[in-house]
Amino acid sequence: MGLLRVGILISGRGSNMQALIAACRTAGFPAEIALVLSNNPAAPGLATAAQAGIPTKVIDHRSYGDRAAFDAAIDEALRQAGVELVCLAGFMRLLTDGFVEAWRDQMINIHPSLLPAFPGLRTHERVLAAGARFTGCTVHFVRPEMDTGPIIAQAVVPVRPDDTADSLAARVLEQEHKIYPLALRLIAEGRVRIDGEKSSIVDDRVPEAVLISPIA
Ligand code: GRF
Repeated sequence: MGLLRVGILISGRGSNMQALIAACRTAGFPAEIALVLSNNPAAPGLATAAQAGIPTKVIDHRSYGDRAAFDAAIDEALRQAGVELVCLAGFMRLLTDGFVEAWRDQMINIHPSLLPAFPGLRTHERVLAAGARFTGCTVHFVRPEMDTGPIIAQAVVPVRPDDTADSLAARVLEQEHKIYPLALRLIAEGRVRIDGEKSSIVDDRVPEAVLISPIA
């Protein structure tokens, strides 16, 4: 079977992108990164991808009259690159419902909380303000409503009494870098079944398929 062709959309640092690139370089990994695309020409992740020899492209949202025209340009670039699965990795633009539907069940996102808790921005600040004892991260299929969609993988991270938003973000990020490649591998192996608004793992041959990482 051929490798699943993946397109990664970024807006900034790209550390999750880097984790996906690294995973795809490991022997036997069933996916390859066909394209890294950024709406932000200044995204540091673009240089990281280029250094890794991955084709990159900038589609600056400021050059487009409306969201639909911007999304159409992204769609075209992804299709031209033969992308079969889109991974959002710190992509900070809202996508139109039309784009999301066109990539239904073929687009995944990582969010730094245990969804459905704490969707949206400034996640770690809100987790701390709520006094939550645990948080984490989630990889999920993308649906039109922000930070919703069938959950593929999650990791739990404890909140410590002396945490700041930054210290918590760093602890969560470590887990993001584990569950994003895991979710990608499961999809590329054809082992994720979507059933309505839930997804499940078809075959638990390997222990990590329980999808619970040890609490960091
Ligand atoms: C991550 O925390 C991710 O969960 C969120 O945006 C951040 C992106 O970081 N969606 P990076 O660009 O992958 O380093």
